[in-house]
Amino acid sequence: MTHSELKIFKKEGQKITCLTAYDASMASLIDGSGVDIILIGDSLGMVIQGSSNTQSVSMSDMSYHTEIVSKACNRALIIADMPFESYNNADSAVANANQLIAKGADMVKIEGGSEHLKVINALISENINVCGHLGLQPQLVVDSSGYKIQGRDNKSAEKILSDGVLLESLGISALVLECIPGNLARKISEKLIIPTIGIGAGIDCDGQVLVCYDMLGITSGKQPRFVRNFMNSEGTIAGAVSAFVREVKEGTFPSKSESY
Ligand code: KIV
Repeated sequence: MTHSELKIFKKEGQKITCLTAYDASMASLIDGSGVDIILIGDSLGMVIQGSSNTQSVSMSDMSYHTEIVSKACNRALIIADMPFESYNNADSAVANANQLIAKGADMVKIEGGSEHLKVINALISENINVCGHLGLQPQLVVDSSGYKIQGRDNKSAEKILSDGVLLESLGISALVLECIPGNLARKISEKLIIPTIGIGAGIDCDGQVLVCYDMLGITSGKQPRFVRNFMNSEGTIAGAVSAFVREVKEGTFPSKSESY
């Protein structure tokens, strides 16, 4: 998939599939299974490095994983997360984003809304493709008690919606919506021209993303309700990834009970 195909997928009502990957073997398998987007998520802080949050992930970690993943992929669009504090100001954001692009990323992802207006403007004016991330922002969460559904009351729902509209007007290419009620995600998806990619945001997003280790049942501890373990029904990693692609494209993942 290319960056310009994102809006076409949305226009044609084709659901977009996205999984995280952190290493060459998994990236190659996911790429070969027809997943549209591979995200080198800073969730690697937790699932690779064993930390309790994503704040310790550095630019050198993200550069390393972006390089080894992107080398292994031929067809998926590659999005790399900008790690915590790597986009504190416009100059460092542009320098750090260019570092990830040089390692093979097609696009960078940034958590947050209007507070990053200057940074996002700077990235877009340097022709760097940007994916937004609203709702639950894992970089602001320090321990497991912080993983809560966002946008439940009118004020916070309005803020997420208006941030989405603002980010689109700045020129972002796609928007991840994490842990928000399905009806809010539907409203945002209907309002925006760019695709929304949901995780814990219901069936009406334009695409779905999961952490690959979560959907393979490798991650330890209690999983949130939006995680489906595709290994349970498929038994092989390739089968699980193909089932994820099929169910997202057909609109059968996530189910009501996997949404808020
Ligand atoms: O880091 C990550 O894996 C993410 C997904 C949860 C969307 O940002």
